[in-house]
Amino acid sequence: MIDLHSHILPAVDDGAPDFETAVAMCHLVADDGCRAIVATPHLRHERWWNGDRVLLQQRFEELQSRVGTRLKIYMGGEIAMHTQSFDEILEQPEGVISLAGSKYLLLELDWQGLGPSPESILFELNIVGWRVIFAHPERVSWLMKDQELIRRLVANGAKTQITAMSLTGELGKMAQDASYWLLENGLTHFVASDCHDTSRRLPGLAKAYQEVSKVWGDEMAQELFVDNPQAVLENRPLAEECISGMAGMSSGSLLGV
Ligand SMILES: [Fe+2]
Repeated sequence: MIDLHSHILPAVDDGAPDFETAVAMCHLVADDGCRAIVATPHLRHERWWNGDRVLLQQRFEELQSRVGTRLKIYMGGEIAMHTQSFDEILEQPEGVISLAGSKYLLLELDWQGLGPSPESILFELNIVGWRVIFAHPERVSWLMKDQELIRRLVANGAKTQITAMSLTGELGKMAQDASYWLLENGLTHFVASDCHDTSRRLPGLAKAYQEVSKVWGDEMAQELFVDNPQAVLENRPLAEECISGMAGMSSGSLLGV
C-alpha cells in the first residue's frame, strides 16, 4: 500500500512534534504494510504557512535517512485553499509543492466554505495542467451537503481522498457515512491515513483496506490503496474513467495502465 497523505515531517505543523515521533510513525506505517508514504505537511495554512522550502526539504531528507530503506518517503504537501494560495499556484507554479513532484496537488478546502469555490479551483488548475485531489471531502460538511456539486467535480476530473479513520468509523458516524456514500457512488479515488501522531490520528491503512475489501471487494481495495496512489507517484492518469459513477462495481479492466 501507498499512503498519499501524512503529517510525518517533524515540527512543521500539528503532526509529528519531533524526529523521534516521526520515525516511530514511519515504523508503524511500514509494520502496517505500506511500502511508501508521501509527507504532506500543511502548506499555506493560516497556522502553518511553511514558506521555507529548504527547511521542509532538510526535514524530509533527515527523516528518510533515519528511517532507512524499509519505507520510501516522498515529499508533498497539503495546500490550504484560499485566495492567496490559489493565486500563488497560478502565478508561481515553480514554487508549488506537489505530491512526489507529480502534477497532482493535494488541496484542503476551507472548513467553512470560504475562499475560491471548488469548481473554480478545479477549472483554473486543470487548464494549466495540474491534477486536483481534494483531501477528505467526507469531513467537509458544507461540501457533503451538496452531493450534486461533488458529482460535478468528479465528473469534471477532480479526484478525492478519503481518510482511513473516517472510513473505519474512528472519526465519527457522520464521517463514516459520508465515506460510504462517496465509495458507493464511485466518487473517491484514494484512501490515505492523514496521520498526525502515534496515539490519536494514527498511521496505517490495513484496517481501512480490510473494510473496503470486505464491503466492495479486493479489486476496489487494490485500486484505492495501491494502483491509484502508484499512478500519482508515477505522474500518470488514473484508470478512473472506468470507475466514475459506477457504484459498487467490479471490473477487471481497472487494474493496470
Ligand atoms: Fe492532513
